[in-house]
Amino acid sequence: MKPSVLVCRAVFPDIVDRLREYFEVETNEADVVWSPAELIQHLQGKAGVFITGTQPIDTALLEACPQLKAVCSMAVGYNNVDLPACTAHGVLVSNAPDVLTETTADFGFALMMAAARRIAESEHFLRSGAWTKWSVDAFAGSDVHGATLGVLGMGRIGRGVARRGALGFGMKVIYHNRSHLDAATEAALGARYVSKEALLREADHLVIVVPYSAAAHHLIGAAELALMKPTATLTNIARGGIVDDAALAQALRDKRIAAAGLDVFEGEPAVHPDLLTVPNVVLTPHIASSSLPTRRAMANLAADNLIAALGLGPNKGKPPTALNPEVLA
Ligand code: DGY
Repeated sequence: MKPSVLVCRAVFPDIVDRLREYFEVETNEADVVWSPAELIQHLQGKAGVFITGTQPIDTALLEACPQLKAVCSMAVGYNNVDLPACTAHGVLVSNAPDVLTETTADFGFALMMAAARRIAESEHFLRSGAWTKWSVDAFAGSDVHGATLGVLGMGRIGRGVARRGALGFGMKVIYHNRSHLDAATEAALGARYVSKEALLREADHLVIVVPYSAAAHHLIGAAELALMKPTATLTNIARGGIVDDAALAQALRDKRIAAAGLDVFEGEPAVHPDLLTVPNVVLTPHIASSSLPTRRAMANLAADNLIAALGLGPNKGKPPTALNPEVLA
């Protein structure tokens, strides 16, 4: 008998068909966002689960689902999964790194440019019928080319943003991260490691790409925003909660900083109401990795991991991007 798995959000049908070659698959065609209790109910008797970046996988769920052996996410960020608890319960966890790096860096750069050049704000103006004449300073924003790009979190996506800035737009790159880049990568990007405070003070355009953790909660709040240049922009493509959204809305309203681009929010899909009323912020619904080829690649990688984690397919026993491969040892 095939093992049973749950695909807990609607995903591409051909990828579900691939899973059906190995498993009895329960899907969620209606794409309902299940409560934790509903998720536990659907997981009864399942050996594996295909998740996205939003379903919480915690001790309570693991204890209520003792048959569960694999949790495979199509997201790179896994702050929704209690990894130590999964390891303690012998549950393999995988995420989906690499396949979304360039697409997400493209989007971060686009959001930064949209904020700097006031693209969303001016588009709303035009659509509202308010455009009646050309004006010398209409929606005059700040330049991206030649400006100082500050990258907070220099992982794969951070490096992708830095590369775009340095090589495509002649930007001076400064960064702050847990660790330094190796000298060759620093030289190739012309990137300079600085303290967090120097990053905030010197960046013309700050892009946040750190993974979420308890230590990263409100890494950027009122005090940090106060250090930034009044002409600066802030772009967050990492996770909600890293930026204090209420403090950011206030800083934008007060013109403490010039503009922001946000793809992620504290408590999303709810968005802080103050962000919805300030004009100088571009808001997108957590879509930085959402090009069709990339979302397909992410889903395929999660499927590869699930098949391998449950001892099947060409990679059996060796899920390609396992986070705790020791549980299979
Ligand atoms: C990720 O992969 O972590 C993206 O943010 C989508 O959830």
